[in-house]
Amino acid sequence: MQRRNFLKGAGALLAGGVLPVSLVEVAFGKTKTENFTFAYISDSHIQQIKGNSFVRSFDRGLIRAVAECNMLDPKPDFVIYGGDLAQLGSKPEIDHGLEIMSACKHKVHYVLGEHDYYLDLGKYWQSQLGPHWYSFDHKGVHFVVLNSILVDDKWINKWSSGEERMGVMAGLDNPLGSPFMVGAAQRAWLKQDLNKVSKDTPLVIFSHSPLQKIYKGWNFWTDDAEQIQALLKPFSKVNVFYGHVHQIQYNQIGNISFHSVMATAWPWPYPSTYSQAGSHLPKLTVEMNRADPFFERDATGWQFIDVWSGNSTVQYQLPENNTRTVAFNTKSKRPEDKQYQSKGKRIPPQDHY
Ligand SMILES: [Fe+2]
Ligand SMILES: [Fe+2]
Repeated sequence: MQRRNFLKGAGALLAGGVLPVSLVEVAFGKTKTENFTFAYISDSHIQQIKGNSFVRSFDRGLIRAVAECNMLDPKPDFVIYGGDLAQLGSKPEIDHGLEIMSACKHKVHYVLGEHDYYLDLGKYWQSQLGPHWYSFDHKGVHFVVLNSILVDDKWINKWSSGEERMGVMAGLDNPLGSPFMVGAAQRAWLKQDLNKVSKDTPLVIFSHSPLQKIYKGWNFWTDDAEQIQALLKPFSKVNVFYGHVHQIQYNQIGNISFHSVMATAWPWPYPSTYSQAGSHLPKLTVEMNRADPFFERDATGWQFIDVWSGNSTVQYQLPENNTRTVAFNTKSKRPEDKQYQSKGKRIPPQDHY
């Protein structure tokens, strides 16, 4: 498939409506790898109210994403689900989320989020979806899915019930929570896994929390981020995509490009809007316009990501904001906003009407 046709297809998609799914193109013109696309859906936070009653707007976000995925042309080779399928990790929530996902016609690879995990430490999720971390190869690209939301056993065992533990971890700014980590066992696995991969193979890593330290107070954070980055350092092309933060973030650390993806459920505020926090965002990130409470889908959205020779161009399609494009600048060797990078820290308000 021609890249131009792919972009045309994406344009048609936009004309049909803006939906919270990401379409990803991996394109390596002159290498042995072939072009392909995959889609990305994340952070649906399916929440049970009682019995068969679930929070409708969260259901709708995921239903729309799956429907849009099924209509994508070209068809994605697979779908990544970026974590936080459930809100409080219960069987009814995971079952209901997977029931909605079962309408997806494509193979789905799942990432585990903290909202899926802390009720029963991922047991039910695993019984339905398999291991918490794994890797796979696809058309010349090595993909790794990590569980980045682990904490130490001391914290795990201090609660009287799984419900209490999940309740604490479900809050954005609960001081009783604990910073996330990938952990020693998984780092050892990752090291072994990457030993089998040649250094010029493009790597795409999926985590739920950012594999960089942004703001600890809200767990926009992974405690052993530097150790993971060190394992990725020998590779020439590395892209990390993460969910969890429900907002646009991007950064470059050495050889690693970082991009967040949007949530289908709701937007989180930026840490810089929290006066006690100061700004902990990567300097590079120009913040998106903030949510308008009168628009249910404001500051949610989707993006397609064009990974071109190992560098990525991310187009954010935002229902109540203008499209933004964050692309790798081969001169400055970092991702930059095509329109707003030089205009300061925050983009100006945009007209809804
Ligand atoms: Fe989330
Ligand atoms: Fe999360």
